[in-house]
Amino acid sequence: MDISDATQKHYNAAGVHPTTDPDDPRSQFAVDRYEDHLPKLIRPGMRALDLGCNAGRFTFAMEDMGAIATGIDFAEIPLLYAKKVAHRRKSRCQFNIGDMAALPYKENSFDLALLPQNNVYLSYQTLENLSVQLKQILSDNGIFVVIMYDELVKRAGEEALPERYDVQTGLIAGSRAIPEKGVYASPSYFWTVAFAKHIIGQHLPLGQVEEIEENRFMLVFGNKKR
Ligand SMILES: C[S@@+](CC[C@H](N)C(=O)[O-])C[C@H]1O[C@@H](n2cnc3c(N)ncnc32)[C@H](O)[C@@H]1O
Repeated sequence: MDISDATQKHYNAAGVHPTTDPDDPRSQFAVDRYEDHLPKLIRPGMRALDLGCNAGRFTFAMEDMGAIATGIDFAEIPLLYAKKVAHRRKSRCQFNIGDMAALPYKENSFDLALLPQNNVYLSYQTLENLSVQLKQILSDNGIFVVIMYDELVKRAGEEALPERYDVQTGLIAGSRAIPEKGVYASPSYFWTVAFAKHIIGQHLPLGQVEEIEENRFMLVFGNKKR
């Protein structure tokens, strides 16, 4: 199973719905979770990148916090919607189509990169590769903010896990029924906090880790070029 292909198809089929539409108040719960954390990391004028932005709720939220924000995603349907919202709002947010495995940005393009719970779509190799890319793309002292669950905590006691879990790759098979569209493969990777710290920390030193709520962690990695 190619996770990129499956994830792209799944999110294009899912499209935009009230709980992800940045123009619908019902989508804001996801951003509000970090109201005590994200604004503290954003300085006015900071160039912020939202990795796996979908319809852009975190991109717009970072703009509202004072950043010059860009979102990137490889699912064109939600991304197109984000562009329409930006146009309607007269927002300065930019939305780019692209894969986190090969970001289309040059050196020193951003001061902050946010990965809000999208690590599960990245293989161990891809998240490491993303960290290597960010070392170049982030400015000196730029930060990489990863928000994630620990899958071991989340899935403890899940009886069906061994049948879905591929020991060799860490991939967990899954599917999601999308109304009127059908059932889509929705695989994800088994990430633990300790493992993410280790993989990313080899390239971008870990600054802080905080458990924002039960089993929801914010990891902040720094970039030091010299
Ligand atoms: C759970 S959604 C989260 C969207 C957004 N952060 C939000 O809260 O609305 C995950 C998004 O990540 C995108 N994604 C997953 N893997 C990606 C990759 N390798 N490159 C670019 N986008 C990716 C998917 O297309 C999807 O839109």
